[in-house]
Amino acid sequence: MNINKLIRPGLAAMKGYAAIEPVEILEQRMGRRIIKLDGNENPYGCSPKVYQSIADYPYYHIYPDPEQRILRQALEEYAGLSSGYIVCGNGSDELIDLVLRLFLQPGDEVINSPPTFGMYPVSTNVCGGKVVDVPRGEDFAVDMPSIKRALNEKTKVIFVASPNNPTGNVIPEREVIELVDTERIVVVDEAYFEFSNMTVAKLVLEHPNLIVLRTFSKWAGLAGLRIGYGIFSVEIAEYLMKIKQPYNINAAAQVAVLASLSDVKNLRDTIAKIVAERERLFTRLRELEWLKPYPSQANFILCSLNSHSGPSAPCHPVGGSDKESPAKQTWRQLRQRGIFVRYYDSPELENCLRISVGKPEDTNALIKALKEIC
Ligand SMILES: Cc1ncc(COP(=O)(O)O)c(C=O)c1O
Repeated sequence: MNINKLIRPGLAAMKGYAAIEPVEILEQRMGRRIIKLDGNENPYGCSPKVYQSIADYPYYHIYPDPEQRILRQALEEYAGLSSGYIVCGNGSDELIDLVLRLFLQPGDEVINSPPTFGMYPVSTNVCGGKVVDVPRGEDFAVDMPSIKRALNEKTKVIFVASPNNPTGNVIPEREVIELVDTERIVVVDEAYFEFSNMTVAKLVLEHPNLIVLRTFSKWAGLAGLRIGYGIFSVEIAEYLMKIKQPYNINAAAQVAVLASLSDVKNLRDTIAKIVAERERLFTRLRELEWLKPYPSQANFILCSLNSHSGPSAPCHPVGGSDKESPAKQTWRQLRQRGIFVRYYDSPELENCLRISVGKPEDTNALIKALKEIC
């Protein structure tokens, strides 16, 4: 029997999300500790209060609250809006999917501005929508005129990450308002908001078609527990509460969020350390002539490789194949030294590396390795 014949046609040929590998697998493969700078995770981990709270929680045998009452209420102060505007998801990934399920009919269009986060096109395809790519322009700014030209009666949703992954830049508030004025659903994904301190969350009060997504994966170091939230108009929030799976937030994630929110001051100190290290990493990367780091408002830095180590001497990372871009060769060379970063080699983003900000010792090891490679 041919199972493929039964698969939804749009999904059979779909390219999945290129996810990173977990630390345990990488360390097992390498047979040693690694420096993981490929997932924009928090190198300082979560609040110590999270471990104790998870150990003490007595109700793991009971289903969690389908209405997320304690969680949504606890988020009011942090998010700055009342709980009716808040819905939590199993990571902001789940909220991306839920929003698309809510708004898309087969063939409806979703505007995506690459290079950007890879889950927008994947979830659009899974939900039967059509991805309309409007590539970013100079300095990776969103191309507003081209987005407006791409709109038609089938356009339902526009995604913009701010700060954008992997480029690190933010969209100005006036452009968000321009997008919202098109009367499509505009999703501003603020997964890295805590590192930029720039948000459009309050605009949701005046603009019911604006959605702001956030996560605990980055600033609070809870990527492994899968917990994000969104800020929606009350109307959209009510629909999402209706269509989501009842127990989408597991009890441990809820406990971890409450513990994190009781320790925000400490977590903010960690954020400050990461932001300071981002600036130091940027300076150190800029000293390498063959790398061009882009300014970032997030916890990672994108670099393009100009493949020259000096005005006349081409940089050839040793041991690579000629068919590979310098970025991929450098990525491979770093891996061999136990340092994991991400490389990009697509039409929208050629010959680039994205490096997550680690601890100062990670920066030092990375720079040393880069100097050895090229
Ligand atoms: C822009 C952006 N949005 C969303 C996510 C997913 O976050 P979560 O872990 O909450 O699913 C990521 C993760 O890297 C991201 O970069």
